[in-house]
Amino acid sequence: MKLETKDLLTGDEISSKEFLELIDFSIKLKEENKTVKGKQLLENKTLAMLFEKPSTRTRVSFETGMKQLGGHTIILSLNEMQHSRGESVEDTAKTLSGYVDGIVARVYEHSFIEDLAKHATVPVINGLSNSYHPCQTLADFMTIKEHKKKFKDLKIAWIGDGNNVCNSLIFGCSKTQTDIVIATPKGFEPNPEVVKKASENTTIDLTTDPESAVKDADIVMTDTFTSIHTSDPKRTENFLPSFQVNESLMEKAKNDAIFMHCLPAKRDQEVTSAVIDGSQSVVWDQAENRLHSQKALLSSLGI
Ligand code: CP
Ligand code: NVA
Repeated sequence: MKLETKDLLTGDEISSKEFLELIDFSIKLKEENKTVKGKQLLENKTLAMLFEKPSTRTRVSFETGMKQLGGHTIILSLNEMQHSRGESVEDTAKTLSGYVDGIVARVYEHSFIEDLAKHATVPVINGLSNSYHPCQTLADFMTIKEHKKKFKDLKIAWIGDGNNVCNSLIFGCSKTQTDIVIATPKGFEPNPEVVKKASENTTIDLTTDPESAVKDADIVMTDTFTSIHTSDPKRTENFLPSFQVNESLMEKAKNDAIFMHCLPAKRDQEVTSAVIDGSQSVVWDQAENRLHSQKALLSSLGI
C-alpha cells in the first residue's frame, strides 16, 4: 500500500481507510515475519534517526525493521550535529534529504518536526515529540485488533496524563471510530483542538473520575505521569493515589478488559506490578508490535 501523506507527524495525516489498511498490513507482516524475516521491501534504503531524547523501543524497532526490510539506519544524536552549533532545521533537513530516504526524529518541540518535514524532500516520521507519538498509536491499534478483533463498539479508558501518547491515541480513535473516555486530573487534559477534531468521528469523553472512566471499558490504558519533557519534581502528586491503575481499578472494567501501556513504565506509580505483570496485560505484544507496524509504515510511506 502507498499512503497519500509524505510525513507522519501527529497521526491525523492518515485517512481512516488508510489507517485500517495499515493495521491489517502490520498484522500480515507480523505473520510473515515468523517464516521470512527479510522481506526486501526497502532494499538499499537509508533511514536517518535523530534523537534529542532517550529511547529503547523506538530506536531498536526502527533499526531492526529497516534491517529486516533490506535497508539500514544512521543514528544521530542531535547534540552531536551542527544543529547544536546553530545550523538551522531547514538547512539540516535539506542536507539530510540529499543522503537518506527517510528521517525519524525524536525531539522536544513539535515545531522542530514540522519544520523538518516542511523542508525535507524525503518522508519525516515523528518518533515522539512533546505533543504527539503517532508510531505508538499504530502499534496500539494493531494490538487492539489482535486482541479484540474489531474497533467499533469498543471503549478505551485512558487514565492519567493527557500527554503526547494520549493526543495521538485520540486521532487513532477517530480513524477507527473507537470510543474513548479520558480521565485526568484537572489541568492535565489532552490538547483540546485534538479532542474537538477527533470528536467529529467518534465519542470522546473527558472526566476527572478514573472509576467512572473504566466502567464497561474494554481497554484500560495509561502512561507515565512524568514524560521526558516534564520537569516538576512534585508532578506525580497530582495523580496519586486515584489515577494509579491497580487491581481494584481494573476490577471495575469489563472482565475481559486488556491493560495497555506504551512503556517505559514507572512501576507502582501509574501502574502496579500486579497489573502490568498480570493476565490482562498485553504490554509485551504492544512493544513488539512497534516493529511490525513501523515496517508497514516505512514501506507505505515511499521511503
Ligand atoms: N514507547 C516508546 O516510544 O518507547 P521508547 O521511549 O523506549 O522508544
Ligand atoms: N509520554 C512519554 C512517552 C515515552 C515513550 C514521554 O514523552 O516521555
